[in-house]
Amino acid sequence: MAANPRTFADVQRTILSAHKESTVEDKMSFYDSWSDLYEQLQRLGFCNFHGVDGSEGMLELAQSKSMYQTLQKCTLGSESLPASSDSYDAVVIVGALSEGQVPYTVLPELHRATKPGGFVCMTTRTNTSNQLYKKQLQAVIEEMEQKGLWERVKVQEVEHWEKATSVHETKQDSKYISGIIYIYRKSRSQD
Ligand SMILES: C[S@@+](CC[C@H](N)C(=O)[O-])C[C@H]1O[C@@H](n2cnc3c(N)ncnc32)[C@H](O)[C@@H]1O
Repeated sequence: MAANPRTFADVQRTILSAHKESTVEDKMSFYDSWSDLYEQLQRLGFCNFHGVDGSEGMLELAQSKSMYQTLQKCTLGSESLPASSDSYDAVVIVGALSEGQVPYTVLPELHRATKPGGFVCMTTRTNTSNQLYKKQLQAVIEEMEQKGLWERVKVQEVEHWEKATSVHETKQDSKYISGIIYIYRKSRSQD
């Protein structure tokens, strides 16, 4: 066990706080404060990562992080995940579920690859141009919940999700667009 064990909520708070900082100085100060705890993520057992992406260039970038045991090309939504059923403690999809990117029809596939009792973490933007997609995504999430396939652990709105590239995408002249994080736990029994 780690000398100073951190809970899932601690890790979640740390990661969410990264999105709140605005200036480069704030960001660097945030990483300064995180640096001595950063590798605790590995000590907590987050050390076996397998990644997929549809872009060779993004896979090469991920490879340069020396973090993944395997990286494979996969077009989500039209190809199955290169993963056995019920095999991952956690399946995470960040920054890719949105209009024009990964279709929300991929959700059953993310659920399939997750172990019973494991977690599925998904994010999407909540800016104007992604509202319809978000509604459709949420309808699938809720339908799967009603079928007993998974249960909601946490749904967290994040006001400063990422820097906006257009003023039309922001609320009240904010420089940021908003987003949302969904964390669901796969049911242990489908009975
Ligand atoms: C905004 S980037 C986010 C990358 C990374 N997850 C992150 O958080 O930094 C969106 C990623 O989704 C990938 N992507 C978009 N549509 C995809 C699809 N249908 N199948 C697989 N990857 C896709 C892109 O290649 C890109 O790497």
